[in-house]
Amino acid sequence: MKGIVFNLLEEVVIRHQGEDAWDALLEGAGLDGAYTSLGSYPDEHMYRLVGAASEALGMPPFDVLRWFGREAMPSLALRYPAYFSTHDSTRSFVLSVNSIIHPEVRKIYPGADVPTFGFRDEPDGSLHMTYRSPRRLCALAQGFIEGAAIHFNETLDFEHLDCMHRGDPECRCRITFHDKRPS
Ligand code: HEM
Repeated sequence: MKGIVFNLLEEVVIRHQGEDAWDALLEGAGLDGAYTSLGSYPDEHMYRLVGAASEALGMPPFDVLRWFGREAMPSLALRYPAYFSTHDSTRSFVLSVNSIIHPEVRKIYPGADVPTFGFRDEPDGSLHMTYRSPRRLCALAQGFIEGAAIHFNETLDFEHLDCMHRGDPECRCRITFHDKRPS
């Protein structure tokens, strides 16, 4: 996993819980925390950090990753405004992940391992999304999408219909977008 993801986690933890909390997480996970954005590090480091945060906060690992994803979106929007400014809705932003954002990410961060999503419009207006990745970070994907909705001043419902963590071959999710919140 690319160092940028660890940098984002550090930023989010420090913003919400302070420097000491990040140091405590590193200690709990037995890691030194020297992550450069372009470097590649074992996925295991991320799982250990999430595990340490899960214990410290008394939150299931799924919720830790989801929280991280949601809170990381403002930092991603600041670092990569171009991926956001060409969209006026969460739906179109999310639909650009496979075709534009992650292919660009692989150019900026050689060796980046990104997941594969599948999208299908449903007759009721919702978006059916599949997620497949050996890293099984569907909770992070959910958090990113919920964070994107906050960015676009929208609300959405995210349902996990199937999950790799329950033994399914891929995750299947239903995303129902609601109208923009009045600003
Ligand atoms: C709603 C939008 C997005 C979704 C759902 C999404 C989802 C994910 C997920 C779940 C991963 C973890 C790897 C895996 O599951 O195999 C990931 C990795 C990554 N994503 Fe995205 N992403 C989104 C937008 C972005 C944006 C805007 C950026 C900005 C550049 C970005 C950059 C990255 C990077 C750098 C990685 C790490 C690759 C690696 O560690 O090798 N993503 N993404």
